[in-house]
Amino acid sequence: MKNQNTPDIQSCTQGASWLYSEVVKDHFFNPRNILIDEKNYEADGIGIVGSPACGDMMVVWIRVDEKEQKIKECKWRTFGCASAIASTSMMSVMATENGGMLLKHAKRLTPEAIIDRLGGLPDRKYHCSVLGHQALREAIEDYQQKHTDTAKT
Ligand code: FES
Repeated sequence: MKNQNTPDIQSCTQGASWLYSEVVKDHFFNPRNILIDEKNYEADGIGIVGSPACGDMMVVWIRVDEKEQKIKECKWRTFGCASAIASTSMMSVMATENGGMLLKHAKRLTPEAIIDRLGGLPDRKYHCSVLGHQALREAIEDYQQKHTDTAKT
């Protein structure tokens, strides 16, 4: 017997505000650049952020081409929702495609640009797309901090 307190999937997905694009679904079901075992991964910079809106968490690891000042690899893992997974997967693609994004451009990557490439996100999921881009920015700042410290010694 159906539990009267459990909404069925059709009622959950009705209304344009909860529609997910095919790109979002693709990146949710096939996330790119996810990192499961960070113990064997040597990153140049790490960023960790939590969302005040929902309490979920995101970690981003980057490797940097020092000479070119471009992102060579962008790995991530989240304890977040489907929108966080899809948007961070897309962010990792954008940061590394075409030979890698310049660090100064990656720092200015916006949630709006990521959402645009995803073909949109429901308005109430905007905060989920912020997690990845903030963690990326922190990872770049972590790299730059270490680089500056190394240069001083
Ligand atoms: S609800 Fe927390 S990241 Fe989406």
